[in-house]
Amino acid sequence: MSVQSTAPASDIDLFSDAALLEPYELYRELRDLGPVVYLPRLDVYAITQYAALREASTNWEVFSSARGVGMNDVLNEATEGLLICSDPPDHRTMRKVLERPLLPDRLNDIAPFLREEAGKVVDQVLTRGQFDAVTELAQHLPLTVVSKLVGLGDYGRVRMLEWAAASFDALGPMNERTAAALPKAQEMVGFALNEARPGTIDPDGWAAALYTAAENGELPVDKCPHMVVDYTAPSLDTTILGIASAIWLFAQHPDQWQLVRENPSLIRHAINEALRLESPIQRFTRLVTRDHELEGFAIPSGARVMLLFGSANRDERKYSHPDSFDVNRKPSDHVAFGTGEHACAGMNLARLEIRSLLEVLVPRVERFELIAAERTVSSVLRGFSKLDVRAVQGAS
Ligand code: HEM
Repeated sequence: MSVQSTAPASDIDLFSDAALLEPYELYRELRDLGPVVYLPRLDVYAITQYAALREASTNWEVFSSARGVGMNDVLNEATEGLLICSDPPDHRTMRKVLERPLLPDRLNDIAPFLREEAGKVVDQVLTRGQFDAVTELAQHLPLTVVSKLVGLGDYGRVRMLEWAAASFDALGPMNERTAAALPKAQEMVGFALNEARPGTIDPDGWAAALYTAAENGELPVDKCPHMVVDYTAPSLDTTILGIASAIWLFAQHPDQWQLVRENPSLIRHAINEALRLESPIQRFTRLVTRDHELEGFAIPSGARVMLLFGSANRDERKYSHPDSFDVNRKPSDHVAFGTGEHACAGMNLARLEIRSLLEVLVPRVERFELIAAERTVSSVLRGFSKLDVRAVQGAS
C-alpha cells in the first residue's frame, strides 16, 4: 500500500499583478516543491508538473468540471451548463453536437475561406510595414469566425472581444479584477440566452445548428445558449493571444524565423512550440469529488485544484531547456489545449487560423522588429494587449 504524504504548502501569490505578468520563476519554485502544492492564500491545490497535470485532467470522475473551472463561486454558479463546466454524461451529449463544425473534414471546407481572409489582412498590414500585431493582425480571423461562421453577425464583432476577455478575468479569485469582470461576463451569458437565438442569428451558422440539433432531439434546447457561449468565450482571446505571442517570439528569435522560412514544414511545429512556451490559458480549476492521492500526495474531497497549464508546459522533467523557443522541438504533446475529457474542442480550428496567417507571412517577411509591447494582465490569460512590430519584407 502506498504512503500518502501531505502536499507541501507555499505562500506564493499567483494573482498579484507582478505574478500575472511574469509567472514563470514562481511556477519553477512551485514545481520544485512538488507536483501538488497547497496554496493556503487561496485554499487551493496547485498541480504544477506535467505528469501530474495529465493524470488529473484525464480523471474527470475525481477532478470534476461540473462545479465550474474558475476560482470563485459567483462565476462557477453563473457558468453552470457550459460544456467546459460539465461532466459526462451531459458533457458527451453536448460535445458530440458542438464539435461537429470543428472536426477535421469540416475544417477542410472552411480552410480556403480562412486562407483568403489571412491573405487580405496580411496584405493590409504589410502595406503599412509597421502595425499592432494584436488589433490589426491577430484579431481578424477569430472575430471573422465568430461573426461569419458561428453566425453572430456584427454583434459578434462589436461586443464579443470585451465579453470574452471579461469571461476569463472573471475566473479569478474574488478580488477587484474579478469583481470588475463579473458583470460583463454575465452580460455575455445574457446575450446568448436572450438575443443570439434563432431569428436573429445566421440560419446557416454553427450557433443555429445547435438549435436544429435540439429540434432533432439530440440535446435539450436549454443547453443551446450555453453552447453558443462555448463557441465564443474560449475561441477569441485564446487564439488572438496565441497568434500575437508567436509573432513576439519570432521577433525575439530571428534565427528561428529563418529556420521556418528555410523549411516551411516547420510551421506546424513552431505553432505548438509557441503555444507550449506562451500558453494563452495559464490555469483552470477542478473540484475534487472524493479523497484522492495524486503522485503520492493526498487531496481531500471537496478541495479545489488549479491546473497550471503554463507551468506544466515548462516542466524541466518533461522538456529539456524548457524556457527556450526551439522550432525543431516538435512538442505535439504540450498541454496548452488541455488534455483528457475537456481537451480543447477548437484546437484544430485554432491551429488552422494560426497556420493560415503564418503561411502567408513566412514567404514575405524577412524578419519582425519589435517596437513596443504591452502585456495583458489577466487572471487566466497570457499574451499581449498591444504588440507594435515592423515587418521587414523580403522573399524567402
Ligand atoms: C490557441 C487557442 C486556444 C487555446 C490555447 C485553447 C485552450 C483550451 C484549453 C486549455 C481548454 C481546456 C479546458 C479544461 O481542461 O478545462 C479548452 C477547452 C475548450 N476550448 Fe479551447 N483553446 C483555444 C482555441 C479555441 C477555439 C478556436 C475554440 C472554438 C470554438 C475553442 C473552444 C473550446 C471549447 C468549446 C472547450 C471546452 C471543451 C470541453 O469542455 O470539452 N478553443 N481550450
